[in-house]
Amino acid sequence: MNLESYNQIALQWAAARSAFFGRERQYLDAVLAATPAGATILDLGCGTGRPMAEYVVAQGRRVLGVDQSEAMLALARFNLPSEQWVLATLEAFEPDVPCHGALLWDSLFHVQRRDHEPILRKVVGALPVGARLMLTVGGSAHSAFVDTMFGQSFFYDSNTPEESEQILGALGCRIVIGEFMNKPDGGRDKGRYAIVAEKLGT
Ligand SMILES: C[S@@+](CC[C@H](N)C(=O)[O-])C[C@H]1O[C@@H](n2cnc3c(N)ncnc32)[C@H](O)[C@@H]1O
Repeated sequence: MNLESYNQIALQWAAARSAFFGRERQYLDAVLAATPAGATILDLGCGTGRPMAEYVVAQGRRVLGVDQSEAMLALARFNLPSEQWVLATLEAFEPDVPCHGALLWDSLFHVQRRDHEPILRKVVGALPVGARLMLTVGGSAHSAFVDTMFGQSFFYDSNTPEESEQILGALGCRIVIGEFMNKPDGGRDKGRYAIVAEKLGT
């Protein structure tokens, strides 16, 4: 569902999503603060590469972007032709180059929650000690649901913020930032919670 839907809305998405929202840039700065110049950041569910990958590159780092949507990835390639863009799902992608940070921004909640721990395990496993990842999860306990955007249907599922932070803790990470971007309103808006986590040494 999400693959076809993102392919359909890619141009509308690109027009709507070019600037940071809320404290997104601060979260990204917290990830970049833990990376050396020239390091590669994994951008999983990268969309068009704007504004996240674009900012990463402007800050002197490289991007390896992954997305399941050919149309979104084509825009990312057009926007940032010198970076690496891989057509793959979060579930199937295997990081095989050294990476020093990871973004799972507004993408993990499009995957069934039973797959979140394995994906996070894979991503954390690919990072060196001290590296950081940032992700969004749903802001409340709820069942998987389908919502519409630009007239298309999208699947959503998520662990709660507490469960997500526990998963990251069990994977050997500390939570650097964990805060609501928007709180659930008890209705259509299930809320959105931002996490920046750091991989600890054993
Ligand atoms: C809401 S957009 C967010 C894009 C970008 N991260 C941003 O912050 O603007 C979600 C993106 O995740 C991608 N996506 C959703 N499910 C995915 C999956 N299972 N594997 C890979 N990409 C996925 C979509 O194609 C889309 O580009």
